[in-house]
Amino acid sequence: MGENTFLRGPADWWRQAVVYQIYPRSFADLNGDGIGDFAGIIDRVPYLASLGIDAVWLSPFYPSELADGGYDVADYRNVDPRIGTLEEFDRMTEALHAHGIRIFVDIVPNHSSDQHEWFQAALKAGRGSAERDRYIFREGKGENGELPPSKLASHFGPEGWTRVEDGQWYMHLFAKEQPDFNWGNQEVRDDFLKTLKFWSDRGVDGYRVDVAHALIKDLADGHLPERDSYDLEVMKTDGTDDLFDRDEVHEVYKTWRQVFDQYDPPRVAVAEAWVHAHRRPAYASAEGLGQSFNFDLLVQPWNPKQFKKTITYNLAAAERSGSSTTWVLSNHDNIRHATKYGVAEGFDLYKWQHSKSKGNSLPQIDIQKGIDRARAAVMLELALPGSTYLYQGEELGLHEVFGIPADQMQDPQWFRSLGEKATRDGCRVPLPWTAEGSSFGFGPGGAHLPQPEWFAEYAVEVEEADEDSTLNLYRKALRLRKKLLDVEKYEWVRSWNRNVLHFKRPNGWHSITNFGDKPVKMPKGEVILTSTPLVDGMLPGNATAWFLAK
Ligand code: BGC
Repeated sequence: MGENTFLRGPADWWRQAVVYQIYPRSFADLNGDGIGDFAGIIDRVPYLASLGIDAVWLSPFYPSELADGGYDVADYRNVDPRIGTLEEFDRMTEALHAHGIRIFVDIVPNHSSDQHEWFQAALKAGRGSAERDRYIFREGKGENGELPPSKLASHFGPEGWTRVEDGQWYMHLFAKEQPDFNWGNQEVRDDFLKTLKFWSDRGVDGYRVDVAHALIKDLADGHLPERDSYDLEVMKTDGTDDLFDRDEVHEVYKTWRQVFDQYDPPRVAVAEAWVHAHRRPAYASAEGLGQSFNFDLLVQPWNPKQFKKTITYNLAAAERSGSSTTWVLSNHDNIRHATKYGVAEGFDLYKWQHSKSKGNSLPQIDIQKGIDRARAAVMLELALPGSTYLYQGEELGLHEVFGIPADQMQDPQWFRSLGEKATRDGCRVPLPWTAEGSSFGFGPGGAHLPQPEWFAEYAVEVEEADEDSTLNLYRKALRLRKKLLDVEKYEWVRSWNRNVLHFKRPNGWHSITNFGDKPVKMPKGEVILTSTPLVDGMLPGNATAWFLAK
């Protein structure tokens, strides 16, 4: 590891950064095993640089049996051999840093894989052992302990307890291959600090913290949480819920911050915490992780009123907390937003995805409308103060892949809910790089999830050749944004049309979005970028324009 593995710069580089999420298994595969790898990422660093992003965030690449796409980590300080080696990790970091791109890795502290050496040791060591104390093992109920210790469903359904050979049960909020850690155990705490130092020493600039709100559970005096739904409404709002978002979790993040602050610039982190909105700032505090995801745009339909409310709320909250907010339209857990914006008015795809008993029904999608709106939405979010997290493939305007045959699905959410919850595989299909060839240029050995024919139209090479493609729109928008960035302030500009959202930054950079279908008049100014070309000087429906006030 050379000194050049570190990227210096101002401590607040993250505040308005654009971070591009790479789902490593589905980005680019150089060794031809059908699974994306570090060599593939290194090969595409010029592509990443051409986007104009500030950082990449890599979803888990650690050794894993892939019971949950890598969010079941068997060794936190190593690399899945299918993805690469530590030496390649260093080379990748160096290559990214050489292009001025920082790197976030995903930390999964709530649970490990059942293949983790600690869990294997816990199974062997038996009840009452120090090894079992690192996880949450309990006796079952019923005459012979044959019933689970409490009525706890798992996120992916059905039960959140699994029985082991000697009769004890262990808790898992997700798949049974993801046993929850006991964060009351000092060894667990110390080991994560070691992991954070390990990656920080290798030049990692930041961390995305998985299920950051779940670590501390109320297990005092024999208490065991019970839960049959993970809807936010069920979670207590004051930090005393027995399963999530307990106040004590912030004690853990204070110790993480001490590690982050040992580096120059300090390492940064963003919490994935699905908590009540007023509880997010605590995760984003300067003594804690520093930033917390706001997923409020991701769950919104294409609706100006809801966008405005979300933006206003989150920017005010960020200002109060001293952090900056995060804008997210898509990620590896949710239906791609081009698809979400293409459904008929009133159809809530987010609810559909998370609702039971939808069977095999597929929503009707207006493909072009979805893309137009996705282009408009990204320009809107990029013009706002705060940082933006992009998900690989959205820069191509990719739609969700529906209809993956059941025998090729990988997502445990689908298996464990017996098909009632939608699979998340549809947004994790390997990227198309070329219009032809094996797996559209993803790699020489096919793709680990089936790619549909229509991927050809969205291939990077096709979009590179088209001046007006979504890819080129992202590139232009990101370049311009760098030049136009200003203090973290904005102001709504009143519009007579309810379908229009218009705001400006103090330096005179305006963004105007037409959520309706009919064209609207453009205000006066020098137009610098539009998501769809103006027609006779009018802003078309489902479009955004940036302009400088005259
Ligand atoms: C990740 C999911 C994962 C879950 C369990 C989530 O927040 O984003 O992909 O299945 O945590 O680790």
